[in-house]
Amino acid sequence: MPQGVLSVHALPSDHHDGPWDHIIVPPGTKERLLSTALLTMRHGRRLATLPGLPHGLVILAGPPGTGKTTLARGLAQAAARALAPHGATTYVEIDPHAFPSEMLGESQRAITRLMMDTVPELAARRPHTVVLVDEVESLAVRRSAASFETNPVDVHRATDALLAGIDSVAQDYPGVLFVTTTNFPEAIDEAFLSRADLVLHVPLPDEQTIATILRNSLRELAGIWPELRPLSEDDELLADLAKRCAGWDGRRLRKTVLQALSQRIDVALDPAQLTADDLLAAVNGAA
Ligand SMILES: Nc1ncnc2c1ncn2[C@@H]1O[C@H](COP(=O)(O)OP(=O)(O)OP(=O)(O)O)[C@@H](O)[C@H]1O
Ligand SMILES: [Mg+2]
Repeated sequence: MPQGVLSVHALPSDHHDGPWDHIIVPPGTKERLLSTALLTMRHGRRLATLPGLPHGLVILAGPPGTGKTTLARGLAQAAARALAPHGATTYVEIDPHAFPSEMLGESQRAITRLMMDTVPELAARRPHTVVLVDEVESLAVRRSAASFETNPVDVHRATDALLAGIDSVAQDYPGVLFVTTTNFPEAIDEAFLSRADLVLHVPLPDEQTIATILRNSLRELAGIWPELRPLSEDDELLADLAKRCAGWDGRRLRKTVLQALSQRIDVALDPAQLTADDLLAAVNGAA
């Protein structure tokens, strides 16, 4: 793998189905995301001839555990499926920690290599390309806030390199879509934010969404232990659990359902014995 690249996949691919459907977000969110992706990936080349060219940049911002990374992965597959008649998609995951800023100028050079060499080489492989950059605040550090203790010159240079790279890819490979995620939109450089074609705030789930996430988690377990099906259909129980889980993120909700399986040895050995009380105990224990 070239420096900074975690993985490269060809999409659509059957084993990438799933994430897009299993993340529950407010109505309209997925359509907005997918439309933005498709416009860039399908028509970026033509739109790039206009003065206000799209940058092919989407930012998913929100608290930890709200499904941003999963949604970004799912988006790549959903867009690849929709565009399959026009050719395949290369999906690239970038390692945000591969660009340490300790050595003067080193991260700047690495980011420049990534944006000027690696991404163009990958983009030349197939008609469409999606690049996921998780925790983008570590690359696009807000220059106006960069602390003077942490080598501000280098931070400036790394952010400059990323901005120049985004501009250059948008110009030369206008069909490339960057999907980025962050927990700290306020730590991202303003010039990076202003290049985004879409900044989407992914919120904590509301009570109804919490109930749906719990239901889906139980349904998934019922796929393995069919005896659990009635629990996943107990609306009253789900509504009660959801009330107790107000303010929790999706990751914590899914973990709590797993923790319910480890409240008792009997259930751990045979999850088919899971009861409503085990779920309540897990939720109360985690609260
Ligand atoms: N809205 C949701 N609906 C269903 N599952 C969710 C939701 N939000 C989070 N999850 C589950 O929580 C887990 C964590 O999701 P993910 O890693 O995508 O979150 P994230 O927003 O990228 O978190 P972080 O900011 O910490 O990187 C996944 O297993 C995902 O399925
Ligand atoms: Mg994430």
